[in-house]
Amino acid sequence: MQVGYRHIDCAPFYCNEKENGSALKKLFDDGLIKREDLWIASKLWCTDHVPEDVPKALDKTSQDLQLDYVDLYLIHWPVSMKKGTVGNKPENLTQPNVPGTWKAMEALYDSGKARAIGVSNFSSKKLGDLLEIARVPTAVNQVECHPVLHALFKAKGVHLSICKYGYAPLGSPGSTVAIKNEVLKNPILLTVAEKLGRTSAQLALRWGVQMGHSVLPKSTNEVRIKENLDVFDWSIPEDLFAKLFEIKQERLIRGTVYAHETFGAYKTIEELWDGEL
Ligand code: A2P
Repeated sequence: MQVGYRHIDCAPFYCNEKENGSALKKLFDDGLIKREDLWIASKLWCTDHVPEDVPKALDKTSQDLQLDYVDLYLIHWPVSMKKGTVGNKPENLTQPNVPGTWKAMEALYDSGKARAIGVSNFSSKKLGDLLEIARVPTAVNQVECHPVLHALFKAKGVHLSICKYGYAPLGSPGSTVAIKNEVLKNPILLTVAEKLGRTSAQLALRWGVQMGHSVLPKSTNEVRIKENLDVFDWSIPEDLFAKLFEIKQERLIRGTVYAHETFGAYKTIEELWDGEL
């Protein structure tokens, strides 16, 4: 916040909403920032998909974040799990009822506790199915998005009116759930970054900004937090921008744990993503 970030992407699954809440309170109390200048998003975890649990989950998040409302509330995955269970064990998986869950999300929107509602990790098909029945259309589909993965939704004709909202803009190096690809070491990315005198992280982020995406980089390191924000007063020229589209596409965060032969709704990850892998 002190260097200029205004958008915080939270989720109970990240196990740090309480800490975020304390930090926000301090910033407000110290008069360093006003609530209305921030965009705070959070997400409904898979264990709270049953309609009656949805408002309780947002209440808990709002309590932890010490906020009266969130700017955006998302269904984290099109996956549901037994209430109260912890971790991603296959035996916890249950059958999702996205239309039912969405109805409860719409009620949160009506109440003003969530100023916008959306989804995350939905395939084009799942998003299309939801839009067919939604009274309040999904504001966004937050999906993995970086130079190594951006073409899939476009190729399958995703609804263009849905704002492009990308997580893992650096390819989540160090993540234990992402498959190893090392986006930041991609030779094309590195060559272009070197030509422009930027780091490959800055190039990946600037690429997202130029694509018109909302990018959500994460860093725990003060120097990199600053580095990642330094992407607004320069641009990637057209010829080098075009070069980045030569990068081979690959989904790195596949939700492999949500596909199981016996449990849950998806026997394979192809079913989870409706083939968009
Ligand atoms: P760290 O917290 O040590 O900076 P993503 O945002 O794609 O999910 O990626 C997050 C990961 O990227 C974190 O592990 C973070 O590590 C690392 N990271 C963030 N910024 C940079 C950067 N500028 N250069 C290299 N790695 C970075």
